[in-house]
Amino acid sequence: MPSLGVNIDHVATIRQARYRHGAVGVVEGTEEPDPVLAAHEATLGGADCLTIHLREDRRHVNDRDLELLCRTARVKVNLEMAATDEMVAIALSHRRERVHAGRPQMVTLVPEGRQEVTTEGGLDVAGQAARMKAVVAKLKDAGIVVSAFIDADLAQVDASADAGFDCCELHTGPYATAFAASGGDFRAGAGAAALAASLERVHDAGEHIMSRAIRFNAGHALNYANVRPIAELVGIEELHIGHAIVSRAVFCGMRQAVAEMKRLISASV
Ligand code: PXP
Repeated sequence: MPSLGVNIDHVATIRQARYRHGAVGVVEGTEEPDPVLAAHEATLGGADCLTIHLREDRRHVNDRDLELLCRTARVKVNLEMAATDEMVAIALSHRRERVHAGRPQMVTLVPEGRQEVTTEGGLDVAGQAARMKAVVAKLKDAGIVVSAFIDADLAQVDASADAGFDCCELHTGPYATAFAASGGDFRAGAGAAALAASLERVHDAGEHIMSRAIRFNAGHALNYANVRPIAELVGIEELHIGHAIVSRAVFCGMRQAVAEMKRLISASV
């Protein structure tokens, strides 16, 4: 059964909606909701990994969140970041005092656009092979597991394996879009063929990842309706899910929202 990484950026997005421009009555340290508290609730709900994306512009998660999460997490921490010198230095300097020897255990390299609402496409590993190889080597030397967030594209898989990545996280956004457009119907209707083709692309890229002896993960825009066919892919190891879980948590709490997603994933296998 694939494990579940819960992305808590969206909790920080809610916090920043209130505090970004300064709000009446704010005392530093009391801003809410706190993504680190959300992370602990997610852990109690069964999260196997906690993901945060420290963006260059710190638009949601900030340095304090990363620091505190790394100090207190009881499960794996996955730092999503751009492959910049600043972010590599931060990944290398973070201390995980209890769980692991002082650093985020996993880094996922993602492309970053200032204008995007969330990560929009996969990283172009093939187009910057030398840079990727150098960044991956630096992080791996420090004992960090390094993942590439890429489109379901065989050339990007090959480039990631050649650059030394330990895992590839396949971008499931196109699959999720096809699922929504077809109402999740794989057999009939206007969008069925496109949906089947989008799942096939993830499947084929996943097989290729495993043939290169690296780990097959997936994420982005997965939700309670569309997760099952992805969770059923043979050999898939981790699913990374944020928005859908935080959205459900607004109504039922983080612990329950994560537990429900875990149940769906375990029912898939
Ligand atoms: N994986 C990566 C690399 C991401 O950038 C994101 C979005 O932050 C996710 C997974 C989770 O996507 P979503 O919030 O749509 O579940």
